[in-house]
Amino acid sequence: MNHTVKSYISTIVREVIQSELENITHLPTRRKLVVANWKMNMNVASATSFVERLSITGDTSGKVVICPPFPLIYPLRAMLPDSSISIGAQNVHWEDSGAFTGQVSANLLKELDCKYVLIGHSEVREAGETDGMVNQKVKQSVATGIDPIICVGETHKQREQGKTNEMVKGQILKALSKVDDISNVIIAYVPIWAIGTGLSAEPEQAQVVHHVIRETLHHSFGEIAEQVPILYGGSVNQKNAHSLSEMKDIDGALVGGASLDAENFSTIVHAFE
Ligand code: PGA
Repeated sequence: MNHTVKSYISTIVREVIQSELENITHLPTRRKLVVANWKMNMNVASATSFVERLSITGDTSGKVVICPPFPLIYPLRAMLPDSSISIGAQNVHWEDSGAFTGQVSANLLKELDCKYVLIGHSEVREAGETDGMVNQKVKQSVATGIDPIICVGETHKQREQGKTNEMVKGQILKALSKVDDISNVIIAYVPIWAIGTGLSAEPEQAQVVHHVIRETLHHSFGEIAEQVPILYGGSVNQKNAHSLSEMKDIDGALVGGASLDAENFSTIVHAFE
């Protein structure tokens, strides 16, 4: 290769690298989130005491989310001193309104200042929620301006059979079918075998799946995948939160049992700073 060709190639390579670097530096950093999933626990008195005992210091704006049972959404919003802690719902219906006994619409959640909603949690899937329903709920939340936290995860048996990646990829692609904009979507990897069992995934084990999730998003949606927070859920507690937080693709936690205690939950929030 003669000198002119070499210098021409090196100029082009430099320009390409430069423009890639500019793109990278223009991307906002990925947001972190620690989400309390209270499930069917707590009441007005215990929620009040939780808020009083919560001790979160520093700037937590937009980082902490509490998902109480539906009837506690309104009183909890009123109890929280400012809006730096967000409220999420544990479920939503995909229709605007109508004869759907026992269901709650995205519009009502929005009116009550819910910024997030859990969709596709295995405990809801077990009660009959299908991938198609998950997809409709995701589309309705995105359209209403509520950020969906889409839960995916394998059973113990599926893990043993080596089907974890296939399972998780399938759930994500079905949940996001015909969703054009994923810039406000959050994914939570919540392996079913780790929920409420005390058997959290090892950080490295979770990282492998989080990486698969990011690659799956990248393949279908491109660069925006880098901005999607991927949370880990399943027996997260004050002891294991820090080591989970050190993994490259673990951007926060979905916390069940340990989120019922204000001190433990505060420690977990600080682990993800
Ligand atoms: P857990 O629940 O932290 O009690 O395991 C997690 C979840 O199901 O959201």
